[in-house]
Amino acid sequence: MIRTAFVLAAAIGALAASSAAAQDGSKVFAMQCKLCHAAASGPMGPTLVGVAGAKIAARTDYEYSPALAAKGGTWTDANLDAYLTAPGKFASGTRMAVAVTKPADRAAVISYLKTVR
Ligand code: HEC
Repeated sequence: MIRTAFVLAAAIGALAASSAAAQDGSKVFAMQCKLCHAAASGPMGPTLVGVAGAKIAARTDYEYSPALAAKGGTWTDANLDAYLTAPGKFASGTRMAVAVTKPADRAAVISYLKTVR
């Protein structure tokens, strides 16, 4: 009985943790991304609505740096993680200089981006 309760509590804990990640992701986004990435593309940056899984630098309403425009490929989790870890390393000459140093924050904000459609 005690064991069942423990397993159940662990399962609920895991569920809570996964929704907490998306929630924290929205906080990371609000604090570190929103300034430049609004609901619509603007002079500060392209909108990130639908960016997860999209082609890199594919929006027609934003003029990307030649570096990012020439990069090619898709915004997979791995590419998003690499870009957010070190934008200039991922695409030397990119206009985005902001990095997210904590792996947990990167994972959270990437999960959040998938919900922004
Ligand atoms: C100071 C402004 C600024 C901040 C803050 C910022 N970005 Fe950016 N971001 C840009 C700019 C400018 C570009 C376009 C870069 C280029 O053309 O080289 C960009 C591009 C991107 C792209 C590629 C978009 C595409 O259409 O291919 C992603 C993904 C991205 N940013 C994610 C983020 C995330 C996630 C955060 C928050 C952790 C963030 N950015 C914070 C300015 C910013």
